[in-house]
Amino acid sequence: MSTPYLQVTDLKVAFPTPDGLVNAVNGVTFSVDKGQTLAIVGESGCGKSVTSLAVMGLHNRRVAQISGSVVVNVADQAPIDIVSAPEDDVRVLRGRAISMIFQDPMSSLHPYYSVGAQVAEAYLLHHDVSKEEAFAEAVRALARVGIPEAESRAKNFPHEFSGGMRQRAMIAMALVNEPTLVIADEPTTALDVTVQAQIIGLLRDLQKEFGMAIIIITHDLGVVADIADDVAVMYGGRIVEQAPVRDVFYRPQMPYTMGLLASIPRLDGGHDERLRTIPGQPPSMINLPTGCAFKARCPYVELVGGDRCASELPNLVAAGDGHLVRCHLDEDTRLRVAAEALNRQGAM
Ligand SMILES: Nc1ncnc2c1ncn2[C@@H]1O[C@H](COP(=O)(O)OP(=O)(O)OP(=O)(O)O)[C@@H](O)[C@H]1O
Ligand SMILES: [Mg+2]
Repeated sequence: MSTPYLQVTDLKVAFPTPDGLVNAVNGVTFSVDKGQTLAIVGESGCGKSVTSLAVMGLHNRRVAQISGSVVVNVADQAPIDIVSAPEDDVRVLRGRAISMIFQDPMSSLHPYYSVGAQVAEAYLLHHDVSKEEAFAEAVRALARVGIPEAESRAKNFPHEFSGGMRQRAMIAMALVNEPTLVIADEPTTALDVTVQAQIIGLLRDLQKEFGMAIIIITHDLGVVADIADDVAVMYGGRIVEQAPVRDVFYRPQMPYTMGLLASIPRLDGGHDERLRTIPGQPPSMINLPTGCAFKARCPYVELVGGDRCASELPNLVAAGDGHLVRCHLDEDTRLRVAAEALNRQGAM
């Protein structure tokens, strides 16, 4: 078997705060290969962004406590572990081999410089060319992400772009150096549905063209269904289920994933078009519960029996081809309650 482009192993990230140590990521393992898309989903605060910032090497090493490894296998060079490599080596990778599209383009685009100048700057960081050549490269990148009249629009300032156009500009900036891995953290949440679909379509087209690996972080299971090959479901800073996208939608095995699926608004409307949320609160990341982090909200704790869910952290175990699940229920019971839950829901 060949080595995947990105291999994350037992990644942990904690932040000391006046209230205590925030255990944001508690041992996450996954890999992504070229041409593949991994979606990371889960409720607010479960550690998705902290994971992606660790992959990018963007945490402040003097503050964050990071362990585990994030190995990037760049062609023709020794593998680099973002967690332990010298910061200078990480900087060379970042923006070039791996790059990130952030949620809010306004906070990442500088208001005082033209969009083209900012994309050109990203190119100049990694290429020894003249400003003019870099600007020409920026115009090409803007055209590639579907900005019309890219040559003249490149001279515009961010506030002269619509929200969708700014998001495209962000993508151009992330892709101008033709990275092998792109991390998109909620790249469409600020956009209306039509523009969201365009942006996702664009990422897919660019992936076909360049064979990039993509990690997409999203709350939107519709986006997941559209773009992901595999899905990692996070809860309390851990992966609680990971599987090929079809399995996640049709054979979920972790009660938390079942809850997420049940919270998709039904297309056939009915009375309840609002997003139904899973009752209860996510766990505190400062005082992580012992046992299964989902136990307080899980409807099936009694089916496991004893106090296992309360006392023993379930391992992430194989539950089918490429399917991993962290739950004490046995596989037959998991599949049965999932089928019941999906039937009740009637949507899937
Ligand atoms: N620099 C930091 N210092 C202290 N705590 C932090 C820091 N960054 C994140 N956290 C905490 O770590 C946990 C995970 O945060 P993270 O941003 O990864 O969540 P998320 O899954 O991306 O959520 P969302 O969907 O809202 O973006 C949260 O409890 C958050 O408050
Ligand atoms: Mg986030």
